[in-house]
Amino acid sequence: MSTLLSASAPTPSGNGNGDLASGQVLKIRGGRPLTGRVEVKGAKNLATKAMVAALLGETESVLRDVPEISDVNVVRSLLEVHGVTVQDDGEGVLRLDPRGAVSAHFEEIDAHAGASRIPILFCGPLLHLLGQAFIPDLGGCRIGDRPIDFHLDALRSFGATVDKLPSGIRLSAPEGLHGANITLPYPSVGATEQVLLTGVRARGTTELRNAAIEPEILHLIAVLQKMGAIISYEPNRVIFIEGVDSLRGYDHRCIFDRNEAASWACAALATDGDIFVGGAKQPEMLTFLNVFRKAGGEFDIHEDGIRFHRGGALKPVTVETDVHPGFMTDWQQPLIVALTQAEGTSTVHETVYENRLGFTRALNQMGADIVVHPEGFASPERRVPRRALEQAAVITGPTPLHGADVVVPDLRGGYSYVIAALAAEGESTVRNVEIIRRGYEKFLDKLTALGADYDVIG
Ligand code: EPU
Repeated sequence: MSTLLSASAPTPSGNGNGDLASGQVLKIRGGRPLTGRVEVKGAKNLATKAMVAALLGETESVLRDVPEISDVNVVRSLLEVHGVTVQDDGEGVLRLDPRGAVSAHFEEIDAHAGASRIPILFCGPLLHLLGQAFIPDLGGCRIGDRPIDFHLDALRSFGATVDKLPSGIRLSAPEGLHGANITLPYPSVGATEQVLLTGVRARGTTELRNAAIEPEILHLIAVLQKMGAIISYEPNRVIFIEGVDSLRGYDHRCIFDRNEAASWACAALATDGDIFVGGAKQPEMLTFLNVFRKAGGEFDIHEDGIRFHRGGALKPVTVETDVHPGFMTDWQQPLIVALTQAEGTSTVHETVYENRLGFTRALNQMGADIVVHPEGFASPERRVPRRALEQAAVITGPTPLHGADVVVPDLRGGYSYVIAALAAEGESTVRNVEIIRRGYEKFLDKLTALGADYDVIG
């Protein structure tokens, strides 16, 4: 039986946690600015990796500020099927005890992997611990092919044997792993984490060139150093790892989620609202803040967070997504919603993934004027195109948005549909919303706190 809960009800979500539940649909009545305060907790893209790192320790690890999101639940389940005890104090503190770690059955790993790509990061720690690892067919958001060739090539360089099976990939290293010289074809976040999580316990020294240097990666390095690892990084994306014989547990507070902070900032811009994002910090958001300001946004930096609002009429911008310290690919989707309200033509070049502009079709259904160039294009404002897989979106505004019936395609695209619906006149129906739980904690509670007008059905 379906239920209908309104934003003014005491518990606005179907699962009682202020979070989205499977099968729910949001009915959103837009046209109201979002105003108020939301808190962001630890970054999804650090918490999940630090949880995997706990497998490498010989004692318990404590991870703080862990967000209640479904990607964390997936990693927790995967750790548990491998015999790791995970205790959650309900306040964002996880205690992870790897002392009972065991090998898990293929079927169990497959059943718990869900839609996440994190299972691939279990390979190095499991190869050290058990001499073998299994990766099921990987999920993750449908934002391109998202291959794992860099990961597998790196693991082979460390001495692992890789066997492709119909159900997934089996890796083994009965003789243990040794240090390696690896140059990544592209500064991949996941492949850099793979090398870090594997190199710390490999025999000898590992040199990684063309590494990703996102703040979440520097935090993963800090976690591993707390565990006893010896890792240094040099200019030009070079990381050195001196392998050690054993590692201990860590106690670490996650860095704040910059993707969530940028998302709420764009929600303020798109709805002409005023949002204070508690926990957001300036240094990790410098690139975002520059673009936010150029697009007509204003922000005030405080000790405990950042306030985001419009500074006047919105202005068009040209943006290229890139690896850190560039403009993150995860920021472009909510920004594009705001750019539909800017006076003039904006261009967003997506250079990280080969298919991350498909979500704009639904924005056009809502009244936006966005033309996607699937092969990308050169423009005088930008540096040379960097990757063969680039695409570009040209957004012409301002166009009034109106309600529509849309289906969430992926995490950041889904968030963008919700803020587009909140900026639009009339009622929208947003389906498949549970994907948003992968990366946004207590999403419905936050919408309610910001004055959004919506019902949850299901
Ligand atoms: N790539 C390959 N081969 C590989 C690995 C990557 O060709 O073996 C390519 C990808 O296809 C893509 C590019 O390299 O074109 C970058 O991928 P990267 O490995 O950097 O991404 P990721 O580690 O899979 C993480 C985040 C993403 C975020 C990207 C970029 C996690 C769990 N995911 O993905 O987050 O967009 O880095 O910063 O950390 C999100 O939060 O919504 C999200 C998708």
